Amino acid sequence: MNEINIAVIPVAGMGTRLLPATKSQPKEMLPVGRKPVVQYVVEELNRVGVNRLLFITGSGKHSIENHFDLVPELTQSLREDGKEDLLAELSFIRAPMQYFYTRQRQLLGLGHAVLCAETFVGRQPFVVALGDSIIGLNAKSRIVERMKKCFTENKADAVIAFEEVPPEDVFKYGIASPKSSGDQFEIEDLVEKPGVGESPSNLAIAARYILSPDIFDALKKTKPGVGDEIQLTDAIRMLLKDGGRVFGVKLNGSEQRYDIGNFGSYFKAFAEFALADEKFGDELRTHLKSIL
Ligand code: UTP
Repeated sequence: MNEINIAVIPVAGMGTRLLPATKSQPKEMLPVGRKPVVQYVVEELNRVGVNRLLFITGSGKHSIENHFDLVPELTQSLREDGKEDLLAELSFIRAPMQYFYTRQRQLLGLGHAVLCAETFVGRQPFVVALGDSIIGLNAKSRIVERMKKCFTENKADAVIAFEEVPPEDVFKYGIASPKSSGDQFEIEDLVEKPGVGESPSNLAIAARYILSPDIFDALKKTKPGVGDEIQLTDAIRMLLKDGGRVFGVKLNGSEQRYDIGNFGSYFKAFAEFALADEKFGDELRTHLKSIL
């Protein structure tokens, strides 16, 4: 099988839980420490050899395209002024990545956003990486590499990243019903937002997927579910019902998921990344101690 090197990055959502910050800028462009969220996602994928990226965008999301463009005037001016340190901050735009963009013309949910990638992806497996979630401090995660291996070795139909969440939080997530324990496991079923005490596990879907192209047929048959949206989880369940094999790979201890979708988790992510900053982290730590 060819190397899996395409990722679909859905970034079309309205980010309403982050209003007013997201009124005129995409939540995926909010900074966490020094970089916008979506740059971490791209850097994570680049490190594991996924270098053809299709962003599913929507209106008001142009700044994402601009962010990954070359800017000759800016680089030339920094070079002329001898600002090599600042030039280094722009090195990500020269990474050997190919960027593609298409619009989700109606916001019908994550599953529908993925379906918008069908023509581009064709009949090959691909990664889905949510544009509002960073995996690991400074995105130093190789989860997608482990997922690719799992997908290929098991001839899977889908592989999903999972994180262990506190049992009292399971009601917020899609949860795995695993067939076995361990860092990698086959999945019996997925349960959307189970009640506390009714959950088959505490393994929550964590923003990274590898999917076979059969998902597109499943998505076309998937009816709107929770929130009246076409849910990717429902389409994966359809693959399972049709006899497909779906696996889970667990995030390890250094691969915490930073979800930027609400202010609570956004503030925590920003604080952690800022505290880990090489130049300003110590100063910030001292300041926080003095005001707490
Ligand atoms: P979310 O459901 O967390 O994003 O989707 P949202 O819809 O922007 O959130 P709220 O509820 O309004 O605050 C997770 C990811 O999927 C994308 C989002 O951009 C986000 O990166 N998404 C979601 C789409 O691309 N299209 C959709 O129809 C829904």
